[in-house]
Amino acid sequence: MDDAITARLAALKEKYSASGQELLDFLDGLLEADYLTYWDYIRLDSLLSLQQPRTSHHDEPIFIMYHQITELYFKLVLHELDPIIEKGDVSADVLAEAMRRCNRYFSALEHSFGVMVDGMDREQFLRFRMALIPASGFQSGQYRMIELASANLHDLVHLEQREAMRSEESVEALLAQIYWLRGATIEKDGQKTLTLVQFETHYGETFLKRAKKAYQQSISDQARRMLEAGTLSEELKKELRTYDQYVNVLWPLQHYRSAVRYLAKQPADARATGGTNWQKYLPPRFQKRIFFPFLWSDEEQSEWGKSFVDRYAREH
Ligand code: HEM
Repeated sequence: MDDAITARLAALKEKYSASGQELLDFLDGLLEADYLTYWDYIRLDSLLSLQQPRTSHHDEPIFIMYHQITELYFKLVLHELDPIIEKGDVSADVLAEAMRRCNRYFSALEHSFGVMVDGMDREQFLRFRMALIPASGFQSGQYRMIELASANLHDLVHLEQREAMRSEESVEALLAQIYWLRGATIEKDGQKTLTLVQFETHYGETFLKRAKKAYQQSISDQARRMLEAGTLSEELKKELRTYDQYVNVLWPLQHYRSAVRYLAKQPADARATGGTNWQKYLPPRFQKRIFFPFLWSDEEQSEWGKSFVDRYAREH
């Protein structure tokens, strides 16, 4: 027998006997096992069985699949952010690499949003969406998890309360004023929409747990400490600013374009499936979500989501 094989067998014997296992049993298992296939490894059949339209309109699967693609990208983003929150106070190089990856994912999302904006027939969309009420992208839990991991919770408080709550330390109290609640509250009577009630029932505890875990450990908190300690590199600063722009301006603007394309003027604006006043709620200049306010000048913050975006687009 080849020396290399004998050496591997000896190493395997040692590995298995260390945990009280018999190498021979594992070798028999190898003899029995089938070769791995691409479709089994990727779980392709399961993946391709997950598109279940509610109507027979040709374009509904496009809507479903693009949401699924987006959720997978969101999962990739969380795959980078979660270990950083878990570990706490990582180095500037580690954070910069994670941000570079997240920016790549959001870049792909921003550049592919045309699949939604231009890629579906408007008449069909307006019909099949009626079968989806009260479901809404508003209920994307991963989108909120990305926000909770990225921002200091105070910066996610609704703009009107943000400054007043600066010194609030209770995570529960801050979550009770989080910006997205306003988006899904009926203006005239202050009632929560059904979309929001479902969302809170499903994700409430998860969000509380995540918000507590990220308290003082969010990407924003870690970056601010680096800035104060003088360890925030120019490279990291650039990646953080790009990320802030992607998540809080560029993606929301693409998304808003899709709402305008499908819901605006026909003859009156269509009600959103989640029931929000979307024209007032969705534009980034009204929400003014900024993950890293300490990296932007006052002027850039006051221009958030307005002309500054054009300048940013020219620079990148
Ligand atoms: C034709 C395409 C789309 C239209 C017309 C649309 C429309 C809307 C509207 C009107 C809202 C406000 C909430 C409501 O009342 O329903 C909303 C929220 C949201 N949608 Fe979409 N959407 C589209 C595609 C997508 C896609 C592909 C995603 C990806 C997951 C998505 C994720 C979200 C998220 C995360 C929110 C909450 C935004 C926030 O709170 O700032 N949407 N969408």
